[in-house]
Amino acid sequence: MADSIRFILNGEDIALSSLDPTETLLDFLRLKRRLTGSKEGCAEGDCGACTVLVGRIVSGRLAYETVNACIRFVGSLNATHVVTVEHLAAKDGTLHPVQQAMVDCHGSQCGFCTPGFVMSLYGLWLTSETPGRAEIERALQGNLCRCTGYEPIVKAAELVARMRPSALFDPLERERANIIARLKDLTTRETILIEGDGRRLIVPGSVEALATTMTAHPKATIVAGATDVGLWVTKQMRVLDPVVFINHLDELQDIVVTPEGITLGAGVSYSTAFETLRQEIPAFARLITRIGGQQVRNMGTIGGNIANGSPIGDSPPALIALSATVTLRSTSGTRTMPLEDFFIDYGKQDRQPGEFVECLFVPRPKAQSHFAVYKITKRRDEDISALCGAFHLETDEAGTVTHIRVAFGGMAGTPKRARSVEAALYGRPFTQATVEAARDAFDLDYKPLTDWRATAEYRQLTAKNLLTRFFLEVSGTPQELQRFATEEA
Ligand SMILES: Cc1cc2nc3c(=O)[nH]c(=O)nc-3n(C[C@H](O)[C@H](O)[C@H](O)COP(=O)(O)OP(=O)(O)OC[C@H]3O[C@@H](n4cnc5c(N)ncnc54)[C@H](O)[C@@H]3O)c2cc1C
Ligand code: FES
Ligand code: FES
Repeated sequence: MADSIRFILNGEDIALSSLDPTETLLDFLRLKRRLTGSKEGCAEGDCGACTVLVGRIVSGRLAYETVNACIRFVGSLNATHVVTVEHLAAKDGTLHPVQQAMVDCHGSQCGFCTPGFVMSLYGLWLTSETPGRAEIERALQGNLCRCTGYEPIVKAAELVARMRPSALFDPLERERANIIARLKDLTTRETILIEGDGRRLIVPGSVEALATTMTAHPKATIVAGATDVGLWVTKQMRVLDPVVFINHLDELQDIVVTPEGITLGAGVSYSTAFETLRQEIPAFARLITRIGGQQVRNMGTIGGNIANGSPIGDSPPALIALSATVTLRSTSGTRTMPLEDFFIDYGKQDRQPGEFVECLFVPRPKAQSHFAVYKITKRRDEDISALCGAFHLETDEAGTVTHIRVAFGGMAGTPKRARSVEAALYGRPFTQATVEAARDAFDLDYKPLTDWRATAEYRQLTAKNLLTRFFLEVSGTPQELQRFATEEA
C-alpha cells in the first residue's frame, strides 16, 4: 500500500501524503503553489479559464490533454504531468508561439480568459498539425470570452499552426524523454491510501483492488472524470468519504471492436471513444462533439454518464436505441443487463452495494440500418439537453419496419424507450402516414416536465417532430439529406 500522490508539476516532482480527498487542482495551484495564471471563472467546468494540460503515458506514449483544473481533484493525478500556463514561455521571457500568436492576433483584452485559451490552443497545437476551422472551434468550445470575441482567437490558432516549424523551444517537446522516464517511475500497481481528518482517499492499483475496495466501502464515491462529482464539491459543498479514484485504471479504458460490436470500458473518456465511434457509428460521434467542451470530453467518461443515472445524460438514449448492454462488476463477479433495465426510476439504478460499472457493449448496427440521435439545446455548444432523442431503424426490402428502437432523455425521470411509438411503427411500412399516426403515441410514452430548459409542451412537440425529421432523413431526397447534414455541421 502506497501513501502518497506523486506527480510532476511543470518541472517539479510533487509528493503529497496529506491531502483532502476532494481538493481541486485549481485550489492546489493557486492557493498552495501560488501559480495564479490559471483563473477561476465558474468553478464548474464551463468557462475554461482554469484550463491546464495533464499528460500521462497511454500505450507507451506520453499524451497531453486539456482539463478543467477547477473540477479535477488532485487525488486523481498520480503518475501524471501537470502543465500550467506558467510553463510555456522560455526562461528569458520569450513567449511560446501559441502565446505570441495570441498577441499578434489581438486575442486578448481584459485577459481573464486568456491563460485558459492559451492552454486550449496549446493542447490543440500538440495534437493536431494542421487543424481546420471546425477542429479549432471544437478545441475552443469549452473556453468562454466575454470581451475579445472569438475571431481573433481562432486566427491565433490558424497562425500558430503555420508557425510550427519555427517553434524550436516548445518545453514539452524538449522534456519529453525525461518526463516519460519520470512518469514511468511514478506509475504503480499498488493501491494508494491517504487518510486524514477522518476522511479517506483511495486510488486502487487494479480493477481487482477496486472491487475489494468497493466491497469494503460500499458507500464510497467513485470518481472517474469528476465532471459530475467535481460540481458536487465546488457547487453543492458536499463532503465525500471515502473517495475512490478510477480514472487511471487501464483495464477500464479498453476499447474492443469486433464484428459483433464495440466494447467500451467504463473509464473510456468521450475524447478517447470519439475516433472509434466516428468510424463505427458516426452519428454517435457527432453527438459527442456536442457534449461539454473539449476539457469535459477529455475528462468525462461514458461510464460516468451511465452511472450517474441522470435523465438528461446524452449517451444513454443513443446507447439504449442501439440495444447496448452494461456490465457491472464486484467481488462476487459480473452481471450484464440491457442498459434500459439499469435505469429503474429517477435517482435509482440497478446497482447493488459494492458494484461498479465495468463496461458497455454496443452491438454493431447492421449496414443497411438507420441510426440517428438528436440533441436539443438552447445553444449549440456546451449546453445540457432539454431533450435528446435516438432512433434505430431497420426495414426489409418492401420498406416494412423490421426493427425499431426509440429512446429519449429529458422526457421522463430516466432515459426511456418510447415503446408505444415503437409499436406504432413496427411491422408497418415506413411511410409518412405511418409516422404521422405514430406521433400521437409519444403522448402514451412520456409525460415530460416543465423546467428552465423547456416546457412540457415544447418537449412533447419536439419529440414528435424529431420522429418526422428522422423519417425525412431516412426517406428524403439527397438534397434534403444534404440540408440536414449542413444543419448538423
Ligand atoms: C461543463 C460541463 C458540461 C457538461 N455537458 C454535458 C453534456 O453536454 N451532456 C451530458 O450528458 N453530460 C454533460 N456533463 C456531465 C458530465 O460530463 C457527464 O455526465 C460525464 O459523462 C460524467 O462522467 P465522469 O467520468 O466525469 O463522471 P464522474 O463525475 O466521475 O462520476 C459521475 C457519477 O458516476 C459514478 N461513477 C463514475 N464511474 C463509475 C463506474 N465505473 N462505476 C460506478 N459508478 C461510477 C460516480 O460515483 C458519480 O456518481 C457536463 C458536465 C460539465 C461539467
Ligand atoms: S473555472 Fe470555469 S471551467 Fe474552471
Ligand atoms: S479577454 Fe476578457 S474575458 Fe476574454
